Amino acid sequence: MAILLSLGRFTLGRAVGVGFAKINGISLIRRTMHLQQNQAFVNGKWVGARSGETFEITNPANEQVIGTVPDMDVDDVNEAIGSAYDAFYDKGWHNSTAKERAALLKKWFHLLEINRQEIARIMTAESGKPIAESLGEISYGNSFVEWFAEEARRIYGEIVPTPQANRQMMLVKQPVGVAGLITPWNFPHAMITRKASAAIAAGCTVVIKPAEDTPLTALALTKLAEEAGFPKGVFNVITSSRKNAASIGELLCKSEKVAAISFTGSTEVGRLLYKQCSDGIKRIGLELGGNAPFIVFSSADLDKAVTGAMNSKFRNCGQTCISANRFLIQDEIHDEFIARLTEKIKALKIGDGSHDGVQIGPLINHSQVNKVTEFVEDAKQKGAHVVYGGHQLSQHGALFFEPTIITHLRDDMRLYKEEIFGPVVSVIRFKTEEEALQIANASQRGLAGYFYSNDLNQVFRVSKLLETGMIGINEGLISSAEAAFGGIKESGIGREGSKYGIDEYVYIKYLCYGSLE
Ligand code: SIN
Repeated sequence: MAILLSLGRFTLGRAVGVGFAKINGISLIRRTMHLQQNQAFVNGKWVGARSGETFEITNPANEQVIGTVPDMDVDDVNEAIGSAYDAFYDKGWHNSTAKERAALLKKWFHLLEINRQEIARIMTAESGKPIAESLGEISYGNSFVEWFAEEARRIYGEIVPTPQANRQMMLVKQPVGVAGLITPWNFPHAMITRKASAAIAAGCTVVIKPAEDTPLTALALTKLAEEAGFPKGVFNVITSSRKNAASIGELLCKSEKVAAISFTGSTEVGRLLYKQCSDGIKRIGLELGGNAPFIVFSSADLDKAVTGAMNSKFRNCGQTCISANRFLIQDEIHDEFIARLTEKIKALKIGDGSHDGVQIGPLINHSQVNKVTEFVEDAKQKGAHVVYGGHQLSQHGALFFEPTIITHLRDDMRLYKEEIFGPVVSVIRFKTEEEALQIANASQRGLAGYFYSNDLNQVFRVSKLLETGMIGINEGLISSAEAAFGGIKESGIGREGSKYGIDEYVYIKYLCYGSLE
């Protein structure tokens, strides 16, 4: 029996062994393929590591092995860089037209849409994300491919009014060359498409290094990129375990054949990559950790604030760089807000993300579980009040942590200062707007921030003064291909998505036509 999903102008379906989609009124029917790969992709070929080494991928819901992939090292990665370099320079990708690149990206987008159920299954198995969230991420991730397919044809230059009559001055945008893309486990699909489709739209070739925990989604996307027909060497994906990750990162940053790096992940690793790029004065885009304040002022609509808090905090079990991390709630509405939020938290359905209706899956690995547990224990010992939760949930599996709400935070607690990346709501009570802003801005991180207020003057004031690169105003979910995603302070440099996402992968060349008669 066919299942139909209607998503605006798309109709997507699945019958046994067949995928079909209707996109802009055109029906596409194809056999679904098995997207789970066990090899990496270099120069248009599926390959293993030269050493023959592999590593295992496990399902965080039950810790069972679900696949193996090559454990590549710097020799393998050098080859991938070489193939991307040759594809760009010798094999002519740098001369490809925007229209050709747009057509390839559109084809990839269509294939990603048709295969969404299969990709979601793989993503949930390796990341633990509930299946509904995996499907949501696929819509989000695919939207970058569609967006940059459209943007490819609008990478305009400028003709500049000249101060000398015998000159013509032009600014043109050219692709930088090979882009090294290092992506995280929390959004195994969208962080690849957000980077790769911008780079390819700009005319670059790519070497992608997905996170050790979630390479299978990356390889599924790659299988579809192969089918879309990107020329050999344009799209390369290399896989490695933690053991080789640092040396591979260093090689990507230091290789003279790589022109730009884009990294999403922790501030600590971002800082190291930034240093490694400095010798070669290499372009780098960094989307790093956050410590998002979520402020609820007394004029706020509490229903909207509670919904926004749930969306922002519990997306991907709190493992999102833009998750609300510190809840600042104004004195007058504090108790009411906590009571309403606690009811919602108690109702969350926890379990294996592949099961129907599950909203909270496991954390990604043991080190995440340990970190969340340590933060909560530290707060408890220092006098915080656990309103609900606060424990590991071993009855579900070793990597599950209870959705938790903690009040009475103090500034000596780790929960107050650091990003938890887990399902824990940490609450600070405040009295005045100045106090809320002072607490919110005391962090060196500045990725996202949120606030709820129905006072128009306050909305304008706080939007201006809150020190983050993105702000949700009466809104807890802000991500979109059309928006410029990125942070300030130690949360990163550069922007992804929007028309600015292309800027990371092009340079402006100034052409001066002189001595004209
Ligand atoms: C992230 O957590 O790094 C990305 C989240 C998003 O794009 O919404």
